[in-house]
Amino acid sequence: MKAVILISGNGSNLQSIIDNADRIDLQICCVISNNKNAFGLKRAVSSKIQTSIIDPELFNSKEAFDRELISIINWHGAELIVLAGYMRILTPLFVSNYFGKILNIHPSLLPKFPGLNTHQKAIDASEKTHGVSVHFVTEEIDSGPIISQESVNIEVEDTAKTLSDKVLKKEHVIFPKVIHWYTQRRLKLINSITATLDGKII
Ligand code: GRF
Repeated sequence: MKAVILISGNGSNLQSIIDNADRIDLQICCVISNNKNAFGLKRAVSSKIQTSIIDPELFNSKEAFDRELISIINWHGAELIVLAGYMRILTPLFVSNYFGKILNIHPSLLPKFPGLNTHQKAIDASEKTHGVSVHFVTEEIDSGPIISQESVNIEVEDTAKTLSDKVLKKEHVIFPKVIHWYTQRRLKLINSITATLDGKII
């Protein structure tokens, strides 16, 4: 299945998807970044994957930016949009255009800790466990139906950095797994609160 991957930064999740692409029947048409300095762009180039940079400063509205994004995605004929550390809020225009076709990875056990700095928030809240969620993207941020989660224990000595490292290890396994379910057409978004795997509500 053809997919585009949207990134803003390091791209370690992108790397894990690239490394698993053949196994999970994924053809990465393009890696798109809103940040020209994203290290993930170098990873894509090293794997001979096409890249596009969309500079937010060249657009006078979020909608205009997302219209450019849509035109690139449609040009590639992508059936799936993977958000792998894409640090920009998508407009309703974008999200409604690709209903059921956008997957995001978020470093917390949603619905706990949406937004940024999730590892520090989990530590500050004295949580015993933390983790990662992969979910369908709907119009409300970090709140579309959760498809799969993995957890890690929080030890007393953990810092935001050590916790992030532990969670990232889980991220690199869970995301290719869920993307594979999608490419096998086993996953469906039914409405803004319901998704199914093999026809059963998740
Ligand atoms: C990951 O923690 C992901 O869950 C979040 O942003 C981070 C991206 O890391 N959405 P990387 O760029 O994939 O290394």
